[in-house]
Amino acid sequence: MLMMATTQPALCIRGLVKTYRDGAEQRTVLQDVGFDAFPGECIALWGPSGSGKSTLLNIIAALQSADAGRVEVRPIDADIVIPVQSLRAAEATRYRRRHVGYVFQFFNLVPTLTVAENIRLPLALNSLDKLWPEALARLDRLGLSDRLGAFPDALSGGERQRVAIARALAHRPSLVLADEPTGNLDAANTAMVASMLFEVARAEGVTLLLATHDASLAGRADRRVDLTGTR
Ligand SMILES: Nc1ncnc2c1ncn2[C@@H]1O[C@H](COP(=O)(O)OP(=O)(O)OP(=O)(O)O)[C@@H](O)[C@H]1O
Ligand SMILES: [Mg+2]
Repeated sequence: MLMMATTQPALCIRGLVKTYRDGAEQRTVLQDVGFDAFPGECIALWGPSGSGKSTLLNIIAALQSADAGRVEVRPIDADIVIPVQSLRAAEATRYRRRHVGYVFQFFNLVPTLTVAENIRLPLALNSLDKLWPEALARLDRLGLSDRLGAFPDALSGGERQRVAIARALAHRPSLVLADEPTGNLDAANTAMVASMLFEVARAEGVTLLLATHDASLAGRADRRVDLTGTR
């Protein structure tokens, strides 16, 4: 992409190492992972089960810390660099709330809130309630307009996954981290959700990181970061 020559990376990762310790046993899951991701770029995180895809997304979201290395984020429209690894807890929460949209592998919807309330939450937390009409239009496109009053328990796996995607995009984050976002969807919904994620990224300059085992989904990304050999 021409843009890359002139644009700073939205995400810069260098020398990332993560070792889990369980008693005497140590397991290095990420060994010297490094790459840049640019505004509008869609990257597939590729690798078999256990290769560290979710761990890497959690580190980028400041939900887990790494043992070595650095993660820097340059938000859209803000002339700042966020040193994700050095944030204190309250700063990490602020960073995640404002700049990150996370589609969790197991959805993490708030069970006591309806679909509509789950989506309004990131808007309210960011004083961005004016984006509700845009979020509603997205819910409609995701085929969820008649489920707005339902609680997550009453939704199918695929419906929950689509709500999680709508929630992750609602507050216009700079980074969208999507962990197996199509794992529970049928072919038609997979195609629709993938198009939506790629469109949002390319049209709005959002950086999309997508952990997936799905070769056709990974094939639609701009490139792959392969975690297979990192441990
Ligand atoms: N909290 C933890 N404590 C110890 N080991 C962990 C912990 N979390 C993850 N692991 C281990 O780290 C490895 C990587 O896990 P991770 O969830 O990042 O993989 P993944 O690539 O997302 O896998 P999947 O495709 O199955 O979702 C696995 O072997 C897992 O067992
Ligand atoms: Mg995972």
